[in-house]
Amino acid sequence: MAIRLGDIAPDFTVDTTEGTINFHEWLGDGWGILFSHPKDFTPVCTTELGAFSARKGEFDKRNTKLIGLSVDSVESHGRWAGDIKETQGAALAFPLIGDEDRKVSDLYDMIHPNADDTLTVRSVFIVGPDKKVKLILTYPASTGRNVDEIIRVLDSLQLSAGYAVATPVNWTDGDDVIIALSVSDEEAKTKFPKGFKAIKPYLRVTPQPNK
Ligand code: BEZ
Repeated sequence: MAIRLGDIAPDFTVDTTEGTINFHEWLGDGWGILFSHPKDFTPVCTTELGAFSARKGEFDKRNTKLIGLSVDSVESHGRWAGDIKETQGAALAFPLIGDEDRKVSDLYDMIHPNADDTLTVRSVFIVGPDKKVKLILTYPASTGRNVDEIIRVLDSLQLSAGYAVATPVNWTDGDDVIIALSVSDEEAKTKFPKGFKAIKPYLRVTPQPNK
């Protein structure tokens, strides 16, 4: 059955470029991003892995671990890592799962046969400290992902995990946020001491509470 938001992220134990990993144990009590790459030694994937590796420090700051996957072997990933370092100016900075038997790809429904019946699409699963799936994205092989967007959405998820807020269109860290509908005006006065503006009764805007 398809994985949906709010589901417990299916657990697995696999070989990776950093040894055998049990997903839930490896996540510990932090956040995690599991993302699939259609194939080793392909151009778009090479740029993605270089760019995510270069920004690893920003994920670390957010207590978030990255783990990639493709249906190639760990040995192949190891050889490809040399090309990533050589061409992208950043060495692979997180584990890559060798999913030759498609165990994880199938578990997470990362192979979409009408797109390609052997390679994965570009899936992204963000998992929270409670091991629940917080976000699912799916891109085709022809479109590389955007690191800024993944960090942006992670900031939004982490903010709304800690405060009763949602983030509006095109929000980025530091912008005003929206007070959740579950919060009454009375409650909002104490929960958001910086104040809020009610543009409509259902659209109340307040400065980002953790800034
Ligand atoms: C790529 O990463 O460039 C790619 C991977 C699989 C199919 C097409 C493109």
